[in-house]
Amino acid sequence: MIKLAPSILSANFAGLLEDIKKVEEAGVDLLHIDVMDGHFVPNITIGPLVLESIKGRTTLPFDVHLMIENPDRYIPNFVKAGADIITVHAEACHHIHRTIQNIKSHGVKAAVALNPGTSLTSIEYILEELDMVLIMSVNPGFGGQHFIPSALDKIRSLKKMLVDRNLVMDIQVDGGIKLENAAEVAGAGANILVAGSAIFNTESIEDTVKLFRNRLDS
Ligand code: DX5
Ligand code: ZN
Repeated sequence: MIKLAPSILSANFAGLLEDIKKVEEAGVDLLHIDVMDGHFVPNITIGPLVLESIKGRTTLPFDVHLMIENPDRYIPNFVKAGADIITVHAEACHHIHRTIQNIKSHGVKAAVALNPGTSLTSIEYILEELDMVLIMSVNPGFGGQHFIPSALDKIRSLKKMLVDRNLVMDIQVDGGIKLENAAEVAGAGANILVAGSAIFNTESIEDTVKLFRNRLDS
């Protein structure tokens, strides 16, 4: 079963909890939270304070995507604020193995994200340590960008790497996922799809989630 993780980056922040309730009631699986620091990516978004304010007010697990420099420094803060999964970027970590152990030592799931231009070889020797790999299908920083097609080959290669090594973990894909390409992305091997603008910038969140389910189940 393919999981859906709406990115709240495209939600209405003036009524954030209402939008979160809408996706929760529509039956999504995770809440994708995009944390940007204005250094690693050219945008500034959400900090632990926002997570804390929604913690306990939704049953959805917090899938925290850290697009920040020096993530180690902030991991305890995000765990305390309610993170269930913490994803760090390979490009932002000097000692990625240590960072993964740091995340896991707090009892939450650990994942690594790869930018479109970053090779899978950068995670080859830490794959066994991970709960999830996030393949970026846009350059991180903003919602509403176009899906970069080379991500499909990367998802297929990662899937093959996992099968060859008898490893089972989630493959998440983030950026430019729409109703039109969701099935193709899942078909390539992804089992968690992040969608921001395609879910929140619609007339009816409930109907859109249903349409995603139809595309993914058929
Ligand atoms: C981009 C973020 C994404 C973004 C996806 O840097 O990591 O999670 O919100 O937005 P859409 O689905 O609109 O491409
Ligand atoms: Zn994201």
